[in-house]
Amino acid sequence: MLPLPAGAAFPFVSIPLRPRFFQASAFFPMPVVLLATVNADGTPNLAPYSLCFPHVTPEGHRLALVMRQASKSAENLVRTGRVSVSFIPDRPELMANCKVLGQPLSSAEKMAKSVFTLVPSPRPDAPPLVGEAVQVFECRLVASEVAFEAGDGTPEEHRFVLEVEAIHMAPLWAEVLESGGRGPRLPVDYGFRRGSATWMSRPGVVTSGPRIRPVFEVAIDRPPARVVAEFKAALAHPEAPIVGKIRGDVLQLGLPARELTTWSPSVDLRVDPSPPGAADPTGSIVRGRIGPQPQVWTTFMFFHMMIALIGLGGLMWGVAALTAGGSGWPLWIAAGAVFMHAFVAGAAFIGQGLGADQTFKLRSFIDQVLDP
Ligand SMILES: Cc1cc2nc3c(=O)[nH]c(=O)nc-3n(C[C@H](O)[C@H](O)[C@H](O)COP(=O)(O)O)c2cc1C
Repeated sequence: MLPLPAGAAFPFVSIPLRPRFFQASAFFPMPVVLLATVNADGTPNLAPYSLCFPHVTPEGHRLALVMRQASKSAENLVRTGRVSVSFIPDRPELMANCKVLGQPLSSAEKMAKSVFTLVPSPRPDAPPLVGEAVQVFECRLVASEVAFEAGDGTPEEHRFVLEVEAIHMAPLWAEVLESGGRGPRLPVDYGFRRGSATWMSRPGVVTSGPRIRPVFEVAIDRPPARVVAEFKAALAHPEAPIVGKIRGDVLQLGLPARELTTWSPSVDLRVDPSPPGAADPTGSIVRGRIGPQPQVWTTFMFFHMMIALIGLGGLMWGVAALTAGGSGWPLWIAAGAVFMHAFVAGAAFIGQGLGADQTFKLRSFIDQVLDP
């Protein structure tokens, strides 16, 4: 244990313990779940919720749920006594759609914009399950109360206690649960305020494509011009950790000159309007490619081309020599070229590892600006 150095100031400030302290006085990690309930006309309703906590009672382990009094989910839960709680994976396009489902729209409007697949429950008369979920809890209402605002007696929130009747899990995660291994990545909300001002854990941008220059796509609920303007403002900030150039809807981001090394990464971004039929037609799709700096990439490609040409030359020479009845030794040049390709690719992978911290810095900056 290290003692605080003599004379050092207390390293915290005290926050007043306000009502709803976990939202109003703290960053309290909570899940982001999708609640499915059934409307009076039999249609489904989906809505994101975070105030969903384990609730331990003498009767056993249950779930506590807190909802705005006026919410459709609360109304449906009171009427039907059933709700399914789907824990969705932390994927940018799903999180962006969660925000859409958190808007005060009619159930029909929300469901038309939903990107989630609804799977019928195996239990009779139960709400559907979200097909993309890592796990779904099917729940039955056991207790509820309405809390009123101090003073004017306006109903403020609905508090529910739920019995978990069944848990369904995607087979991949069920295998991990039983046999061990790396668990799923679930989104975390640090204090629900409003759909638009909620602190969430940074969603993991899923990359694909060749590992040497991976690509990613993020769906954003703002139009392209606004996203580009937000990058412009973030880059213009005097303490911006990242530098960049913007040309129209194309951005090139990198590290400041004082931090640049041979293995420093750069990111090319293109901000396009959402494709037709997207859940949020006024939004954007940000497409990115993480790779080495352009001049390093050019040098890298130059080496690969040179080695490929020399290898091809060796192959042709060797085959010609063999056909003419001579020695096939030039084939060793082709074999050497394959080895050199592997060597240059290996050096690039090592470079990627050395630049990992800077890649994280770049990615955090992009996440910060996009905040999907
Ligand atoms: C990430 C996230 C978490 C939310 N958590 C809650 C919550 O815990 N309680 C609540 O009343 N509303 C919460 N909301 C807001 C509701 O989703 C929103 O009021 C929505 O319109 C409710 O839909 P419904 O009327 O269909 O139930 C959250 C919204 C988002 C985006």
